[in-house]
Amino acid sequence: MSQLHIIDHPLVQHKLSIMREVETGSKDFRELLEEIALLMGYELTRDLPLEDVEIQTPICPMVAKKISGHKLAIVPILRAGLGMVDGLLRLVPVAKVGHIGLYRNEETHKPVVYYSKLPKDINERLVIITDPMLATGGSSCDAIAMLKEIGCTNIRLMCLVAAPEGVKMVQAAHPDVDIYVASLDERLNDDAYIVPGLGDAGDRIFGTK
Ligand code: PRP
Ligand code: URA
Repeated sequence: MSQLHIIDHPLVQHKLSIMREVETGSKDFRELLEEIALLMGYELTRDLPLEDVEIQTPICPMVAKKISGHKLAIVPILRAGLGMVDGLLRLVPVAKVGHIGLYRNEETHKPVVYYSKLPKDINERLVIITDPMLATGGSSCDAIAMLKEIGCTNIRLMCLVAAPEGVKMVQAAHPDVDIYVASLDERLNDDAYIVPGLGDAGDRIFGTK
């Protein structure tokens, strides 16, 4: 079973509360999302393996630690996942970035794919999928399935706010994918929006409503 990691660091929780507030405008919302992505990325990368390497300091040679093995790829689910990319890139500037475009049909709430552009060697990388909202779980499940189809075996899902329904769906379909969230909220409403949530993340990031 995949693990659900709730990042309850006070800075993350404080910034998330400001994002939830209806008065918070797009500029602040975007900035806070980027900051939270950086803070969550710090936790998500905590177990990356290190290897010993010989380096030379100005004083003497030494055996030091550097990250070994898998390189990273960040894959935002468009549009809202884009808001978490720059925060992660500040932590891992050499990560490659792929894009998966999905939108939810407003009536069925089922995801529709409209775009995919991924790094060629993505199946050799640890892939971090970003999407602030894990609601029904349909979008994340489809994005994970698309990545598995092309051979990715090491995938983590980073969201800001999740509904229990979405977590359950991802864990059932993809028990190998750990999920990182800042909050597990109460439930979905009849429009499949997260309650209490923060509204429509894409619209709030890009000011489209
Ligand atoms: C939102 C959100 C997720 C999806 C979550 O995207 O960013 O991708 O809904 O819902 P689900 O878990 O029920 O699939 P939306 O379809 O509104 O597209 P947008 O990011 O372009 O606004
Ligand atoms: N997408 C959003 O942006 N917000 C929700 O609450 C659910 C799906």
